[in-house]
Amino acid sequence: MELFEAIKTRKTVRKFSDKKVPKEDILKILDAARVAPSATNSQMWQYIVILNKDVKNKIREVINSKYDEFLQWDESEEIKNKILMYKNFSTFFTEAPVNIAVVETSRTSVMENLFIKHGYSDSELVRMRPMPSLLSIGASIENLLLAAHSLGYGACWLTAPICAYEGLEKLLNIEKPSKLVSFLCVGVPENNNVTPTPKKELDDIVSFIE
Ligand SMILES: Cc1cc2nc3c(=O)[nH]c(=O)nc-3n(C[C@H](O)[C@H](O)[C@H](O)COP(=O)(O)O)c2cc1C
Repeated sequence: MELFEAIKTRKTVRKFSDKKVPKEDILKILDAARVAPSATNSQMWQYIVILNKDVKNKIREVINSKYDEFLQWDESEEIKNKILMYKNFSTFFTEAPVNIAVVETSRTSVMENLFIKHGYSDSELVRMRPMPSLLSIGASIENLLLAAHSLGYGACWLTAPICAYEGLEKLLNIEKPSKLVSFLCVGVPENNNVTPTPKKELDDIVSFIE
């Protein structure tokens, strides 16, 4: 698939058929993630591919029990329904043939260490160095999503499940300072009629200084 066509036609897929994704395709997709740009070329990402059904079920249980905690909060029915909606948007992915945990690995930055040494606060630090690791991982994930789409697979990128990070990191043996930052799911779409989400017009997001 031509690059611009892939970019324009990619859309989030949340329902998948049971068809298996061959390992060589999984590796092809991850190879696209591997070559993404990253701040100081730190490549601060690790991808854990989860195909085992029992592990996927355990992931779902950990996320469900975290949301069950939130549902205990003294909140209105309206808010509780929102929490339930987020619970669904956090767990459906465990039904997909391929789950991928995205892990941020540690990175040392000379400039960040200097800023800390010279007294800059955490909030100033975030303004001066706007999360280079997460931005880089985003670039890597987008490569992965486009590669999956160009091979005919559907995929979804999820951060909502990460509210259960403690239990999930324990389950997946992710040790500090590494952090679980996203899940991805990949599979053959159940159908091809996913409605594209509305996007802003170019005029709304672009300005020129000429
Ligand atoms: C950083 C990020 C986090 C997301 N988290 C979730 C999520 O937790 N659950 C979910 O169902 N979709 C999630 N999505 C998918 C978005 O809802 C989707 O990308 C958006 O609605 C635009 O639709 P499109 O991908 O089809 O263009 C996430 C997307 C991004 C980029």
